[in-house]
Amino acid sequence: MMQPVSASKLEIPFDAIVLAAGKGTRFKGETPKVLHPILGISALGRVLKTLSEAGCRRAIVVIGHQSEKIESEINHLQPRWTHMNIQTVLQSPQRGTGDAVRQVRDQIPDLRPTVLVLAGDVPLLRSETLLSLVHHHTTQDAHLTLLGATVENPTGYGRLILNPSEPSGQLQAIIEESDAGESQKKIQYVNTGVYALHWPVCTPMLSTLSAATGQGEYYLTDLVGIALTHGHRVACQWLTDATEMIGINTRAHIAEAVHALSHRQIQALMQAGVTILSTAQTLIAPEVRIGADTVIYPGCVLEGEVTVGSGCELGPNTQLIGPVRIEDNVRISHSVVSDSVIAKGAYIGPYAHIRGGSAVGMDTRVGNFVELKNVQMGNASAAAHLSYLGDAHIGDRVNMGAGSITANYDPVRDVKHLTHIEDGAKVGCNSVLIAPVAVGRNSCVAAGSVITKTVEAGDLAISRGKQTVLPQWVIKHESPTALFRADCQP
Ligand code: UD1
Ligand code: CA
Repeated sequence: MMQPVSASKLEIPFDAIVLAAGKGTRFKGETPKVLHPILGISALGRVLKTLSEAGCRRAIVVIGHQSEKIESEINHLQPRWTHMNIQTVLQSPQRGTGDAVRQVRDQIPDLRPTVLVLAGDVPLLRSETLLSLVHHHTTQDAHLTLLGATVENPTGYGRLILNPSEPSGQLQAIIEESDAGESQKKIQYVNTGVYALHWPVCTPMLSTLSAATGQGEYYLTDLVGIALTHGHRVACQWLTDATEMIGINTRAHIAEAVHALSHRQIQALMQAGVTILSTAQTLIAPEVRIGADTVIYPGCVLEGEVTVGSGCELGPNTQLIGPVRIEDNVRISHSVVSDSVIAKGAYIGPYAHIRGGSAVGMDTRVGNFVELKNVQMGNASAAAHLSYLGDAHIGDRVNMGAGSITANYDPVRDVKHLTHIEDGAKVGCNSVLIAPVAVGRNSCVAAGSVITKTVEAGDLAISRGKQTVLPQWVIKHESPTALFRADCQP
């Protein structure tokens, strides 16, 4: 069984190979399998993140099918982990996992003696697990160490054939699902697809892999049998939490992986003092931090770099897409917040959308059907109903009336302009502020106005047609048979 090993305790340097060249036939779709998001980060991104957390300095990703898309994901991810160098190796055509590792051997000459091999479609592995595997591999002085697991339903995984005559059940071979007989298919010991290799010993053996198997592919799993035949030491480390090995080979596995990852995070958050009312109807990514005494109502999806303070109430039905920072005692219901900061005591929703680098001040109200895009809003202000506010600086104690809008976009020049609304201003209902424009301190914009020029501090701006009243006009013009006559009493 695994002993937990932390990154600080382990000082065995290792490189990693991540296999991501396969087509993902069982997925039936355009997007490469390893690029499917698992709570906000692609499966490949999660594998690389785990490697970086385990202290890996160099990862070689084998790419092939839709390699440009995978390379662009790597270019997007690389800046997050500056201590880890990520390189790619092309495998074309894709002739199996064994062939994939062989491409690395042939194209990268200088890997460290300890090499971890893992698949880009197994996103739930913990960094402690990888460290523990390297630790076991080293202490056992093994040439190949496999990470094995015992699972309820082994369908789809390679089965581990253990020697029953030995007490510890020495690993003898791995049989793939498609090559397994009926009795072998019942075996619940499976291959997680993660291996620690003694690179100088294993690389010559890669040449002896044969494609004689049912699928006509070179299986990396055959290396176990070959190593044993050569008298090399093969070890096996057992996974404690089998959910870590979920490989996303089908769409059903995506749902399974997302729920397992979220479940792990929800359990940790509940232990840290967060109330989560429906664990089944909440999805929370591992990157999310939440303070004690915050209550999460059903239907919340929190992913990316999200920090939530203490004493908040989130949901029902709220999506936070990081980077997002929510300070203490904030209430958000039925809303979407992305790339924004919400300060203490603010009340958001129901049905608000806050995005594009917005910041909502303390005790500020952003309410029903209000959208904020790149808006810096001060303290104790309000936009409570039916507004679009884009590219605006809004001060403290400002009231944006129902339906008020900052018209930020000049469609002729295709540019966006800023609106400045100073402290204490009151912008009446259904007024449109045509940017660039400024509304001064403690000024007032009358309801229904279209504002194109600066409103100075303390002024009232009215820009709308004057009301005209035609006395008794209706009585004079109404048909005697009209359904709702003006002289009829309700
Ligand atoms: C593999 C293992 C199986 C194990 C399972 C764990 C083999 C032969 N089988 O099966 O024992 O239980 O993982 O998840 O290794 N890939 C390449 N190049 C190729 C083929 C695949 O880079 O030519 C990559 C894929 O993109 C994928 C990974 O290797 O990320 C694993 O391939 P996949 O086809 O998913 O193997 P499994 O059938 O899951
Ligand atoms: Ca797989």
